[in-house]
Amino acid sequence: MGKFPTAPYQSMTFEYLERSLHRIMCAWGNQFLDWDDKQALSRHVWEQAEIVRRLRNRIEQFPGLKAGAPVSKELEILANTVLMATDFEDAVNGIYQILSNALVLAYDHFSQSVHPIHDAPTHEIIQEIVSIKELQRTWLRDYRRRNPHQTNQAYQQTIADCLVNTKQLQSPLPLKGQAAEQVGLNTTFKMKEPRIDPSWVIRPDKEVMPHLIADFANNIETRRLFWAIGYMRELNLAIAQLKWMYDAPYMPWAFHHDESRHMWDESRHGDSGYSRLKDFGLKIQDIGFTNASKTYPALGDPTNPLTPKELYEAVFFIGMVAETGHFKVKREAYADFQAGGDMESAEMMLFDMIDETAHVQYVKRWLGPIAKHDSTIDHANYEQRASEVRSQKQVEKNLTAQETRQLPRQTGDPPWDQYQHFLQVMRQICPLSNAQSCPPRLPLPM
Ligand SMILES: [Fe+2]
Ligand SMILES: [Fe+2]
Repeated sequence: MGKFPTAPYQSMTFEYLERSLHRIMCAWGNQFLDWDDKQALSRHVWEQAEIVRRLRNRIEQFPGLKAGAPVSKELEILANTVLMATDFEDAVNGIYQILSNALVLAYDHFSQSVHPIHDAPTHEIIQEIVSIKELQRTWLRDYRRRNPHQTNQAYQQTIADCLVNTKQLQSPLPLKGQAAEQVGLNTTFKMKEPRIDPSWVIRPDKEVMPHLIADFANNIETRRLFWAIGYMRELNLAIAQLKWMYDAPYMPWAFHHDESRHMWDESRHGDSGYSRLKDFGLKIQDIGFTNASKTYPALGDPTNPLTPKELYEAVFFIGMVAETGHFKVKREAYADFQAGGDMESAEMMLFDMIDETAHVQYVKRWLGPIAKHDSTIDHANYEQRASEVRSQKQVEKNLTAQETRQLPRQTGDPPWDQYQHFLQVMRQICPLSNAQSCPPRLPLPM
């Protein structure tokens, strides 16, 4: 009987720290440079969200307990110490090595005190969490081989001191005085601008997007190239969403869980597009990548925390305008690529549409709750406003398409040559049988 009460309380310590790790990953995650590491970070954020979900579900199954109930201030001090690394590479070790290792040891210790039969569900959760952490550790080992780094001694020591104060996370901590607030709130931490490899940045003589806009409605080969590039650049959205989450500690956990999935999906859309381009031997350096924090103000100012109003507008624009507005052209592309015999490109469209359907639901669920944090947000007729913005965007895009048709379209003009080269490469590797017969389709909506 003596052991019964400790399990759920110990789970609350874990839930707080796993949620903190999720937040710290959002805080520093936009500093990864390599494509694959940006992808890995996005997956880790989603894995953390799922770890937190498992722990919260289990806690709430114990009578009288509530996930997110107050825990010791010492845990906040520990999490803040990890967050406040002097530089990014220290933060990576703080997250994936120091704090994660301490948690794995604590889970191991904890599982010995959890009854193997009566409380088997908790055992199962611990096993799942530890195996996720094992995968993250394997990733870190590889990352460190590519990016050797010695952790700053003082940073390491301060975390070690915090772990002593939290009994190495191996027994529940009594709640004395103030309870822990979320990691970062009582610090001076500020997110940095996203890091983008300079070799990815579009060179004007290589940017083909204006030609893709011009020919989108009339050329299925152009549409195929457009979607691969467009998806690749969606990684930008995932990077912006890390900030949406970090800057919204006032939103309930369920928002962060939905947005973690949304963000992971967008990073995978980036990978879908890029993998399709790689199928044709095209590299990100050939295609070019926009740094969205500079190009799309709708995603929010990268240098200051987003206000609730800015968050609302960013979420509104992505979900109600962009995601909602692209369904028709995506469905057309799916059917045309399938009819033309390019099943890989068709499949890419299909999975994206499945994800996007969920994203619009997330956005509709959360715009109202975000609006409650600023009385000047006019949420009442948001669907009506969205439909007006979409119509306006369509008018603007049609004009842009008209203008871009006036650009030089002859051999010798670098962007035109580049565009023709991409089409040619794709045609050679996977010709579309309906390249000539496919009728005109809808223009780009925005
Ligand atoms: Fe997407
Ligand atoms: Fe989406």
